Amino acid sequence: MVSLQNCHNFNDFRSLAKQRLPGPIFHYIDGAADDELTYRRNTEAYDDVDLIPNVLAGVQDVDMSVEVMGQQLDMPLYCAPTALQRLFHHEGERAVARAAAKYGTMFGVSSLATVTVEEISRITDTPKMFQFYFHKDRGLNDALLERARAANFGILALTVDTITGGNRERDLRTGFTSPPRLTPSSLLSFLTHPGWAWNFLTKEKFDMPHLSSHVEAGTNMAVSVGDYFSTMLDQSMNWKDAEKLCSQWNGHFALKGVMSVEDAKRAVDIGCTGIMVSNHGGRQLDGSRAPFDQLAEICDAVGDKVDVICEGGIQRGTHVLKALSMGAKACSGGRLYLYALSAAGQAGVEKALRNLKNEIERGMKLMGVTKLDQLNRENLRYKNDKSNCA
Ligand code: LAC
Repeated sequence: MVSLQNCHNFNDFRSLAKQRLPGPIFHYIDGAADDELTYRRNTEAYDDVDLIPNVLAGVQDVDMSVEVMGQQLDMPLYCAPTALQRLFHHEGERAVARAAAKYGTMFGVSSLATVTVEEISRITDTPKMFQFYFHKDRGLNDALLERARAANFGILALTVDTITGGNRERDLRTGFTSPPRLTPSSLLSFLTHPGWAWNFLTKEKFDMPHLSSHVEAGTNMAVSVGDYFSTMLDQSMNWKDAEKLCSQWNGHFALKGVMSVEDAKRAVDIGCTGIMVSNHGGRQLDGSRAPFDQLAEICDAVGDKVDVICEGGIQRGTHVLKALSMGAKACSGGRLYLYALSAAGQAGVEKALRNLKNEIERGMKLMGVTKLDQLNRENLRYKNDKSNCA
C-alpha cells in the first residue's frame, strides 16, 4: 500500500489515487483519446532531449520566480485548470487553490469547476486564471466572463482544442458521467471505495455552479464530458470570436491548446499575451504532436511577443527545465496535481507541488544556473543528434 509520506513522484500519487477512487473516476482522470498515443508521447518527448549541465557556478542562492502574463509566480510551474474537482476529493478546487497559494503559484479555475470563482477569490489571493469554454449560449458566455472579472482573475484563457468531444474509450467502457450515474457496475465500484462514497454522499451536493444558473446539462443531469463538448460548445467558434472575447476581457488573454506556428502568430495578432502549447493532455486529438516537440518552432516564431506555456506530460522538475531551456516561459499540468488531490486533498497537492518545486530547485543547482533566464538551448542536445537544439 502506498501512503502520502511515500509519494515521491507522479507515479506514486497515481497509485494512491487509483486505490482511493472508484474506477470510473480514476479512469476519467487517467484516460485519454483513442489509443492514448499522444498522452504517452507528451511525457516521452522529454526523454529524447538531454540536459548538459555546467559546474562551479556558485549556486547557493537560486531564484526560480517568473512573471507569466503579468502574474508573479514563485516557481515556473502552475496548476492548469481542470474540471470537476469535487468529484475527486470533497474539498475540490478549494484544496488546490490553497495549496497553490502556499507554493506561490497560479491556480487555473475551469468553467466546469465545482467551486465558484467568487469563493476561490475569497479564500486565496494567489494569481488566478479563468479557463473559458465558448458556449452556444451567449448569455452564459457573458456571465462567465463577468464573474471572472468581478472575482479579480488576472488571466482569461480560452480553450480552443475542444471543438468536439475527444474519443475517450475508457469513459465509454466505464460509463463515466458527471455527476456519476448509478449503474450496477458503478455502484459496485462506489461500494468498494467507501471513503470516497461517504464523502460524496454526505458532503456538499455535487454542482457546477458556473453553469447551473444557465443550463441543466452537466449539473443535475448526468452527461459525459464528450457529450458536453459536442452539444454545449459552439463549433462555429472562429478567430473573430476569439478576438472579440479578447477585447471584451481587455486584460491578459491566452489561447489554450495552440499547436501550430500559424495559429501562434494569429494569437499574437488578435492581442493574446500568452498561449498554452497543449493538446489537452492527449484527451482530444490522438496522434497530435507533443507540446514539448512543438515548442522550439513556436517559441522561435512568437516567443518574444507572448508568454509561451508548455502544458502537458510534465512529471518531473527536469521536464520543466527542458521546456524552459527550449524557450517556454513556464509550464503547467493537470494530472500532476489531480492524482495528489484525489489521494489526499490539500495535503496531497501541497506534497506534489513541494516535490516538483524541490526537483526544479535541485535541477537548477545541478545545471549550474541561479536564474531561469540562464537556461537556453545550449543546455540541450537531441539524443540521436550530436548538434545542440538551436
Ligand atoms: C476534460 C475537460 C473537461 O478533458 O477538460 O475532461
